[in-house]
Formats: sequence, structure tokens, C-alpha cells
Amino acid sequence: MASVPRIATSVAQLKDALRDLGARSRRVGLVPTMGALHEGHLSLVRAASTECETVVATIFVNPTQFAPHEDLAKYPRTLDADLELLAQENTDLVFLPTNAEVYPEGFSTYVEPSQVAVPLEGTFRPNHFRGVATVVLKLFNMVQPDVAYFGQKDFQQCLVVRRMIADLNLPIEFRVCPIVREPDGLAISSRNRYLTPAERTRALAISRSLTIATELIRQGERSAAVIKAKIEQVMRDAGIDRIDYVAVADPDTLMENQAISRPVILLIAAFVGQTRLIDNCLVE
Ligand code: PAF
Repeated sequence: MASVPRIATSVAQLKDALRDLGARSRRVGLVPTMGALHEGHLSLVRAASTECETVVATIFVNPTQFAPHEDLAKYPRTLDADLELLAQENTDLVFLPTNAEVYPEGFSTYVEPSQVAVPLEGTFRPNHFRGVATVVLKLFNMVQPDVAYFGQKDFQQCLVVRRMIADLNLPIEFRVCPIVREPDGLAISSRNRYLTPAERTRALAISRSLTIATELIRQGERSAAVIKAKIEQVMRDAGIDRIDYVAVADPDTLMENQAISRPVILLIAAFVGQTRLIDNCLVE
């Protein structure tokens, strides 16, 4: 049975709603999102509701994590559908802060994220993680959750937030939930809706290349260069030739080594048409 979540658009309303929900004496789970919700987000909400008595989702398209040339203006905004999905998952409270609430006049204090924010996404989207870490810390301060839920699809984001929680002594348990994929393997993303049908077919090469690479490692291939070359070849054969990066990296530090001797994370960022997609796979 769906139950309509409470909605708060200001910190004052949020505090009132949390008090009414008895949040102080209950375990509060937070799912921060930018909306355009899909199965990936809903899996986080479900994880939160199995572990927490109060589930709070936030929807805020955070301007500080977009570069001027990126898709902030056209980022999908589907509030009515989002609220319906959250109601079906029995979310207790949805926080929809305004820009002015999050970034008041004169705002000028940012979180400087750790070293793990520097490579990969950090190279191609230089201020992205500064914006992510800043807004996530602000949402943590506003909601004061006991547990926070993030998706593995944004693997580097998970490392940045995990490090921030540890470094700033935030009293928050951090959960990473697995990537949710379409039946054909495409990692679910809010940006998939930008893809034309032909591009969507082409995009399948991204997850396919990860599956092939994982299999090669399992069969004994230990050269990171060979694995990277294979991933790139599978994508280029499918017509994906604008590749930001392919990385075979340490899953804790994102450092890249020539030889694969421990668990590794395979990470990809590539454009399919105008749409930039990311995906990853942890090989234990
Ligand atoms: O992963 C996202 O959707 C965003 O980066 C987040 C964590 C909600 C911060 O804006």
C-alpha cells in the first residue's frame, strides 16, 4: 500500500517533519538524489526501509557539481513521477530544498574533497566532487541521518563521500548498493533517457566490455594494459569512440597499477552521441 510521503521544501519544514516522525528516537536513513528517479534510486530507498524506521529522500539538482558546459539546464526534472515512485516505496519524507535554501546569498564555503577525487572523473569534471561533497555534507547536516545510501554506479563518488564521512567524523553509517542494470546489461541512469534508440543499442557495448574484461581477468589475464585495450576495442567496434577514460584501478585508492594482483575496479566514462555515461565493475 502506497502512503503519501510528507514533503518539506525548507530546513524549518524538514525539522518539523522529522520531529513529527519521531526521528530522534528512530533510525533515519537518507537517500540523496537529483530526481529523475529510476530503479537504481528505488533500490536505495528499499535498502533504507529494510534497515531504518524513517526513510528520507532528497531531490535537489545541485548546480555546484555541474560545469558551465554540462547538462544542468536540461537535466531531467520529473517531480510528479518521482513523488509517486517514492510513495509506492513508503518513503516517509521527501526534502525538496530550493537553491536559495542550499546556497544562500553570499555562499562561499566548500568542502575540499580528498585525493581520491583527483583522477578519472576529477580530471574530466574538475570541480564536480567539490560540489558533490559540499552538497552531501549540507544534506547530512540538514537531515542528520543515521545511515546514508549511495549507488555503486557512481563508484568514485562513493569513495569521496566515504572518505569525507571518516575524515570529518560524521556520525553516519555509509552504505553502497549494487548497480541496477536493465535486463540487457545497461546500467540504469537518469541520463539514459537522453539516448536515441540507436544510441541505446550502441551503449550496450559499455557493460559488454566490462563483462568481457572481467572474464579475461578471471581466466588469468594480469596485464592492466591488455584489459584496458580490450575494453576500448569492444567500445570502439560498437562505434563509441569518444572515451573519457578506461581505468583498471585499486578499489580503495583508484591508483592504477600495471599488474593486476588484487581485486580491481574497472571504470569507464564515454560519450554515446552527446550523452556521457559511466559504468564500473568490481572484480574480486
Ligand atoms: O548521485 C547523485 O545523484 C548526486 O551526486 C548527489 C549524491 C545526490 C549529490 O547531488
